[in-house]
Amino acid sequence: MLFVSLFKFFFCIIIAVFMMSASVDPLVVGRVIGDVVDMFVPSVGMSVYFGSKHFTNGSDIKPSLTVNPPKVTMSGNMDHLYTLVMTDPDAPSPSEPIMREYVHWIVVDIPGGTNPNRGKEILPYMGPRPPVGIHRYILVLFQQKAPLGLVDQPPSRANFNTRFFARQLDLGLPVATVYFNAQKEPATKRR
Ligand SMILES: *[C@@H]1O[C@H](CO)[C@@H](O)[C@H](O)[C@H]1NC(C)=O
Repeated sequence: MLFVSLFKFFFCIIIAVFMMSASVDPLVVGRVIGDVVDMFVPSVGMSVYFGSKHFTNGSDIKPSLTVNPPKVTMSGNMDHLYTLVMTDPDAPSPSEPIMREYVHWIVVDIPGGTNPNRGKEILPYMGPRPPVGIHRYILVLFQQKAPLGLVDQPPSRANFNTRFFARQLDLGLPVATVYFNAQKEPATKRR
Protein backbone atom coordinates (compact mmCIF):
# COMPACT_ATOMS: atom_id res chain seq x y z
CA MET A 1 0.00 0.00 0.00
CA LEU A 2 2.67 2.48 1.04
CA PHE A 3 4.67 1.56 -2.01
CA VAL A 4 1.71 2.20 -4.31
CA SER A 5 0.91 5.61 -2.83
CA LEU A 6 4.56 6.62 -2.91
CA PHE A 7 4.66 5.60 -6.54
CA LYS A 8 1.57 7.69 -7.29
CA PHE A 9 3.03 10.63 -5.42
CA PHE A 10 6.26 10.62 -7.43
CA PHE A 11 4.40 10.02 -10.66
CA CYS A 12 2.32 13.14 -10.01
CA ILE A 13 5.42 15.19 -9.27
CA ILE A 14 7.07 14.06 -12.48
CA ILE A 15 3.97 14.97 -14.50
CA ALA A 16 3.70 18.35 -12.77
CA VAL A 17 7.36 19.20 -13.42
CA PHE A 18 7.02 18.08 -17.02
CA MET A 19 3.95 20.25 -17.58
CA MET A 20 5.55 23.25 -15.91
CA SER A 21 8.70 23.04 -17.99
CA ALA A 22 6.68 22.64 -21.17
CA SER A 23 4.65 25.79 -20.60
CA VAL A 24 7.02 27.98 -18.69
CA ASP A 25 9.41 30.70 -19.86
CA PRO A 26 12.72 29.42 -21.29
CA LEU A 27 14.51 31.75 -18.90
CA VAL A 28 12.90 30.00 -15.95
CA VAL A 29 13.82 26.59 -17.32
CA GLY A 30 17.39 27.76 -17.91
CA ARG A 31 17.44 29.19 -14.38
CA VAL A 32 18.44 32.58 -15.79
CA ILE A 33 15.53 33.94 -13.79
CA GLY A 34 16.62 33.14 -10.28
CA ASP A 35 20.37 32.91 -10.77
CA VAL A 36 20.86 36.28 -12.46
CA VAL A 37 17.68 38.33 -12.72
CA ASP A 38 14.26 38.45 -11.10
CA MET A 39 11.04 37.68 -12.95
CA PHE A 40 10.27 40.45 -15.44
CA VAL A 41 7.96 41.16 -18.34
CA PRO A 42 9.89 41.48 -21.62
CA SER A 43 8.92 44.74 -23.34
CA VAL A 44 11.75 45.23 -25.82
CA GLY A 45 12.81 42.86 -28.60
CA MET A 46 16.49 41.94 -28.67
CA SER A 47 18.27 39.69 -31.19
CA VAL A 48 21.80 38.39 -30.92
CA TYR A 49 23.90 37.27 -33.90
CA PHE A 50 27.39 35.83 -33.98
CA GLY A 51 28.36 36.10 -37.61
CA SER A 52 25.15 35.52 -39.53
CA LYS A 53 23.76 33.04 -36.99
CA HIS A 54 20.81 34.19 -34.89
CA PHE A 55 20.84 32.92 -31.31
CA THR A 56 17.74 31.88 -29.48
CA ASN A 57 17.49 31.09 -25.78
CA GLY A 58 19.45 28.00 -24.87
CA SER A 59 21.28 27.57 -28.19
CA ASP A 60 24.78 26.14 -28.07
CA ILE A 61 27.64 28.09 -29.52
CA LYS A 62 31.34 27.38 -29.98
CA PRO A 63 33.60 29.79 -28.09
CA SER A 64 35.72 30.15 -31.24
CA LEU A 65 32.73 31.84 -32.91
CA THR A 66 32.32 34.34 -30.09
CA VAL A 67 35.76 35.95 -30.05
CA ASN A 68 34.32 39.19 -31.46
CA PRO A 69 31.28 40.89 -29.92
CA PRO A 70 27.92 39.72 -31.24
CA LYS A 71 25.76 41.90 -33.39
CA VAL A 72 22.87 42.91 -31.16
CA THR A 73 19.74 44.50 -32.54
CA MET A 74 16.99 45.87 -30.36
CA SER A 75 13.62 47.49 -30.65
CA GLY A 76 12.70 50.08 -28.08
CA ASN A 77 12.05 53.77 -28.17
CA MET A 78 14.65 56.18 -29.61
CA ASP A 79 13.81 58.56 -26.75
CA HIS A 80 15.04 56.04 -24.22
CA LEU A 81 18.52 54.87 -23.39
CA TYR A 82 19.40 51.28 -22.56
CA THR A 83 22.11 49.37 -20.71
CA LEU A 84 23.38 45.98 -21.90
CA VAL A 85 25.17 43.52 -19.63
CA MET A 86 26.59 40.15 -20.70
CA THR A 87 27.33 37.85 -17.81
CA ASP A 88 28.25 34.23 -16.95
CA PRO A 89 26.76 32.83 -13.72
CA ASP A 90 28.60 29.51 -14.15
CA ALA A 91 32.21 30.59 -13.62
CA PRO A 92 34.51 28.87 -13.27
CA SER A 93 32.32 25.75 -13.30
CA PRO A 94 28.53 25.29 -13.15
CA SER A 95 28.84 22.87 -10.22
CA GLU A 96 30.99 25.29 -8.20
CA PRO A 97 30.28 28.80 -9.47
CA ILE A 98 32.50 30.52 -6.89
CA MET A 99 33.14 33.45 -9.26
CA ARG A 100 29.43 33.95 -10.04
CA GLU A 101 28.94 36.13 -11.99
CA TYR A 102 31.79 36.71 -14.43
CA VAL A 103 30.91 39.79 -16.44
CA HIS A 104 31.86 39.86 -20.14
CA TRP A 105 30.54 43.15 -21.46
CA ILE A 106 28.82 46.34 -20.26
CA VAL A 107 27.51 49.08 -22.55
CA VAL A 108 25.38 51.99 -21.35
CA ASP A 109 23.47 54.84 -22.98
CA ILE A 110 22.39 52.84 -26.06
CA PRO A 111 19.60 54.69 -27.87
CA GLY A 112 16.49 52.53 -28.36
CA GLY A 113 16.11 50.88 -31.76
CA THR A 114 19.86 51.04 -32.41
CA ASN A 115 22.68 48.72 -31.26
CA PRO A 116 25.49 48.66 -28.67
CA ASN A 117 27.92 50.37 -31.08
CA ARG A 118 25.90 53.51 -30.50
CA GLY A 119 26.27 53.33 -26.74
CA LYS A 120 29.15 53.87 -24.35
CA GLU A 121 31.25 50.80 -23.56
CA ILE A 122 32.00 50.66 -19.84
CA LEU A 123 33.65 47.26 -19.92
CA PRO A 124 35.11 45.92 -23.20
CA TYR A 125 33.70 42.71 -24.65
CA MET A 126 35.51 39.53 -23.71
CA GLY A 127 34.48 36.31 -25.49
CA PRO A 128 33.41 33.22 -23.54
CA ARG A 129 36.25 30.93 -22.44
CA PRO A 130 34.48 28.35 -20.28
CA PRO A 131 37.16 26.22 -18.59
CA VAL A 132 34.84 23.51 -17.23
CA GLY A 133 31.28 22.43 -18.01
CA ILE A 134 28.49 24.10 -19.94
CA HIS A 135 28.20 27.78 -19.10
CA ARG A 136 25.25 30.09 -19.67
CA TYR A 137 26.02 33.48 -21.19
CA ILE A 138 23.26 35.94 -20.59
CA LEU A 139 22.63 39.25 -22.30
CA VAL A 140 20.45 41.45 -20.13
CA LEU A 141 18.97 44.73 -21.34
CA PHE A 142 17.72 47.45 -19.00
CA GLN A 143 15.89 50.65 -19.82
CA GLN A 144 17.52 53.65 -18.15
CA LYS A 145 15.57 56.43 -16.47
CA ALA A 146 18.18 58.99 -17.54
CA PRO A 147 21.56 59.18 -19.33
CA LEU A 148 24.23 57.52 -17.20
CA GLY A 149 27.31 59.19 -18.66
CA LEU A 150 30.24 58.30 -16.44
CA VAL A 151 29.92 54.85 -14.91
CA ASP A 152 32.79 53.22 -13.02
CA GLN A 153 34.14 49.99 -14.43
CA PRO A 154 33.56 47.08 -12.03
CA PRO A 155 36.76 46.47 -10.00
CA SER A 156 36.93 42.93 -11.39
CA ARG A 157 35.04 40.80 -13.92
CA ALA A 158 34.70 38.02 -11.36
CA ASN A 159 32.03 38.15 -8.66
CA PHE A 160 30.00 40.70 -10.53
CA ASN A 161 26.35 40.94 -9.56
CA THR A 162 23.85 42.06 -12.22
CA ARG A 163 21.10 42.71 -9.67
CA PHE A 164 23.39 44.84 -7.52
CA PHE A 165 24.71 46.72 -10.57
CA ALA A 166 21.15 47.46 -11.70
CA ARG A 167 20.20 48.63 -8.21
CA GLN A 168 23.21 50.95 -8.00
CA LEU A 169 22.31 52.60 -11.30
CA ASP A 170 18.58 52.57 -10.59
CA LEU A 171 17.83 50.51 -13.70
CA GLY A 172 14.90 48.52 -12.34
CA LEU A 173 14.01 45.14 -13.81
CA PRO A 174 15.32 44.02 -17.22
CA VAL A 175 13.29 44.70 -20.36
CA ALA A 176 14.83 41.90 -22.45
CA THR A 177 17.10 38.90 -21.97
CA VAL A 178 18.64 36.30 -24.27
CA TYR A 179 21.00 33.54 -23.21
CA PHE A 180 23.11 30.93 -24.95
CA ASN A 181 25.29 28.04 -23.79
CA ALA A 182 28.94 27.35 -24.51
CA GLN A 183 31.52 24.83 -23.42
CA LYS A 184 35.20 24.36 -24.04
CA GLU A 185 35.98 22.94 -27.48
CA PRO A 186 38.04 19.77 -27.85
CA ALA A 187 41.78 20.52 -27.79
CA THR A 188 42.25 19.53 -31.43
CA LYS A 189 39.92 22.31 -32.51
CA ARG A 190 41.66 24.96 -30.49
CA ARG A 191 44.12 27.34 -32.10
C1 LIG B 1 14.26 34.56 -24.80
O1 LIG B 1 13.33 34.44 -23.74
C2 LIG B 1 12.75 35.68 -23.36
C3 LIG B 1 11.85 35.45 -22.16
O2 LIG B 1 10.84 34.53 -22.46
C4 LIG B 1 11.97 36.25 -24.54
O3 LIG B 1 11.47 37.51 -24.18
C5 LIG B 1 12.90 36.40 -25.71
O4 LIG B 1 12.16 36.84 -26.84
C6 LIG B 1 13.57 35.09 -26.05
N1 LIG B 1 14.52 35.39 -27.09
C7 LIG B 1 15.04 34.50 -27.95
C8 LIG B 1 15.91 35.06 -29.01
O5 LIG B 1 14.88 33.30 -27.85
